[in-house]
Amino acid sequence: MCGIIGFVGNQASAPIIIKGLSRLEYRGYDSAGIAVLKNNGLKLIRREGNLAKLQESLNYDEFNATLGIGHTRWATHGAPSEANAHPHLDCRGEIAIVHNGIIENFHELRTQLKKRGHTLRSETDTEVIAHLIEEEYHGDLFAATKAAVKLVEGSFALAVISSDSPGVLIGARKDSPLIIGISNFGFFLASDIPAILDYTNQIVLLENGEIAELSQKEYRIEDLDGNVVNRSSMTINWDAAAAEKSGYEDFMLKEIHEQPMAVRETLRGRVFGDGVVRLPDLGLTDDELKKIKKITVVACGTSLHAGLLAKQVIERWVRMSVEVDCSSEFRYRKPIVDKTSLIVAISQSGETADTLAGVAIAKAQGAKILAITNVVGSTITRESDGCIYTYAGPEIGVAATKTFIAQMTALNLLGLVLAKIFDKTSEEIIATAKELLSIPKKIETILSKTDILMDWAKTYHEANDFLFLGRSASYPMAMEGALKLKEISYIHAEGYPAGEMKHGPIALINPGLPIVVIAPKDSVYEKIVSNIYEAKARGGTVLAIATEGDQDIASHVDGCFFIPQTLETLTPLLSVIPLQLLAYNIAKLRGCNVDQPRNLAKSVTVE
Ligand code: AGP
Repeated sequence: MCGIIGFVGNQASAPIIIKGLSRLEYRGYDSAGIAVLKNNGLKLIRREGNLAKLQESLNYDEFNATLGIGHTRWATHGAPSEANAHPHLDCRGEIAIVHNGIIENFHELRTQLKKRGHTLRSETDTEVIAHLIEEEYHGDLFAATKAAVKLVEGSFALAVISSDSPGVLIGARKDSPLIIGISNFGFFLASDIPAILDYTNQIVLLENGEIAELSQKEYRIEDLDGNVVNRSSMTINWDAAAAEKSGYEDFMLKEIHEQPMAVRETLRGRVFGDGVVRLPDLGLTDDELKKIKKITVVACGTSLHAGLLAKQVIERWVRMSVEVDCSSEFRYRKPIVDKTSLIVAISQSGETADTLAGVAIAKAQGAKILAITNVVGSTITRESDGCIYTYAGPEIGVAATKTFIAQMTALNLLGLVLAKIFDKTSEEIIATAKELLSIPKKIETILSKTDILMDWAKTYHEANDFLFLGRSASYPMAMEGALKLKEISYIHAEGYPAGEMKHGPIALINPGLPIVVIAPKDSVYEKIVSNIYEAKARGGTVLAIATEGDQDIASHVDGCFFIPQTLETLTPLLSVIPLQLLAYNIAKLRGCNVDQPRNLAKSVTVE
């Protein structure tokens, strides 16, 4: 997510904006910029890189003005660069905007604007909004912005100023947070509370579909239909550290709760109500993909677990062989790949050394490379023929959570698109595309009832060993559940395909060993239930992740966490949530630093 701040008042805006942007640096960004209105002209400066780079070139005397907007960019459309950094301007350089969100229909809007003679200077989706406001502007910036955002499909939080509207700051939002800050020396717009906590703790939340006009003395809010909104302010009692985590105790917990957003934003503009799935920016043509005879997934850690699910999904829908390998093995085993191979390289950071090395080897052997990553412009995107971006926003916690669920979302989309390209579409495939749209709400349902997971954590946080078992699409979740517990609580845990237990690991089971079994009502349900009986018969303590409405399983296990019903390849997007929260709660009870676990880095850029 990008960071937004705007100010209008009776103090110099540039220092306030820069300070506010510095409070948003923790979120991660790749470029920054500021625009102020001085002597009825816009002054603008943008730089790729960090805020320090921007400040090196910022002359505060030149930018001495009481109205301004600023932005830290986490790229979604258009690689990190000065030209793609915000603020963006209209043709005449009289309107400046900053934006957080994703404009779904920006391709069409760009085409229409160019046809109408507009000159667009960036690769971003954001810039189209500046030109739409320009077209709608007839002396009233509030009205022009309202008219412009009605043409936009997607998510946005905006701050807008214009050289023709001195002393006026406009804000508008839909599916992307924006708040108003109130002080005795002026008013603020911000995408996140930390940006303004140094100046005020009095805020007014803007709700979806609302637009605000701020001036030196007052502010007003309307909805997009023109109805006046009267909303009282609220006092924020967080300190700066708590505000960075939106009030959550840790970034990891905040990011677990951001997962509905991560799925929603990754689906945005790609899945439609009639079950149609499109990946407009895939970068590989249908003809190129039709030549593919074999798919190999390369990844590490949690991303490798997403790859294990990709195998289940793609083989199920496309009936094409999918091999999955950890990058550190793939790169040294002289892999058998050629020009009929597609390498799906999964890396949230896009910088993992082993995965990049595997990509280079496969590319040298003629394979096509498709990256799945959360970072626009990351190294892996520059080494790949195609890319599916996840839109989880910056992930601060070392343990991957929201980027993982976004990867699984993107890989389901890939499977559905490949099924269409290989003429494998079926009712089940169309149903899966439609069901994807209901997943964010189902995750929210799960997140609203997690008390039992704290009970489990209190009972088992002193265990020395855990087993995680699953079959089919739940097997990768067993692996991920074990990894989450290992990496943040330091408890030894093993993830296993449940059917493999009888080939040795069942010898591990002793009385009281906690065994987490992912047992949704799916095609292998009876098999996983028999594995539960085997574990119980040997004295294991079984904690089941089961499907709502499954009354049978509860009587056979020691604990049961229910997740909503969904389709088989989408169940992992739900079953992973309790696994993440169980690991988180156990780690907290053990006094571990969940955001920065010992020995771990967020991105392993070395071998
Ligand atoms: C995730 O919880 C781990 N911290 C780690 O395994 C991570 O998934 C792995 O290092 C791969 O990172 P990447 O997705 O950035 O390539």
